[in-house]
Amino acid sequence: MAGRNEHSNEHCSGKAGDAFRLEKNIVLTGFMGSGKTSVGEQLARQLGLVFYDSDELISREEGTTISRIFEEHGETYFRRREAEVIARLSRQPPGTCVIATGGGAIMREENRRALKRNGLFVFLDVSAEEAYRRLAEKDDRPLLQVEDPLEAIEGLLAKRRPYYLQADIHIEAGTKPPERLAEEILAELAKISGP
Ligand code: S3P
Repeated sequence: MAGRNEHSNEHCSGKAGDAFRLEKNIVLTGFMGSGKTSVGEQLARQLGLVFYDSDELISREEGTTISRIFEEHGETYFRRREAEVIARLSRQPPGTCVIATGGGAIMREENRRALKRNGLFVFLDVSAEEAYRRLAEKDDRPLLQVEDPLEAIEGLLAKRRPYYLQADIHIEAGTKPPERLAEEILAELAKISGP
């Protein structure tokens, strides 16, 4: 499957030079706008792993944008395609890639179970207000094209938060830039991974 950074390392190291062995893939989860894609790219680059983004793969395979997929086929169809892509990503060999998932993927039990097999979940936690602020200028999130997007964000976040909170690593994203978040994740990985 096509990803970015087509090479992988056996040993990984953070800025501090603390080498560690990554025995799982890294799965980024969190609400829309939490920075999963930019942090994932950064992390994959630093670790020398392949980067996959589930939305990007769906969009590429369908030959159109996520918004268009929702518009033309509806959310149910999108969720089915998302589950298919996630099932494939879940079969990537452990310790070889970083996977950014769409913010709603966590709601399907089959997605959680599949990703958990080879993956370590990292939750990028943003508040509803911060997600709203980050997404205010964007029109590419079909679920937020409603009269009151902040209310929609609050509603979705309330339902999803219990699942996000089951992640192995919890990072307060706040207003931090992707580089900083990647460093924080590396530090957490170094703590829990073997030498
Ligand atoms: C969704 C999040 C989006 C995308 C789709 C649905 C969601 O991905 O999968 O618009 O349900 O939260 P991002 O989390 O990358 O924005």
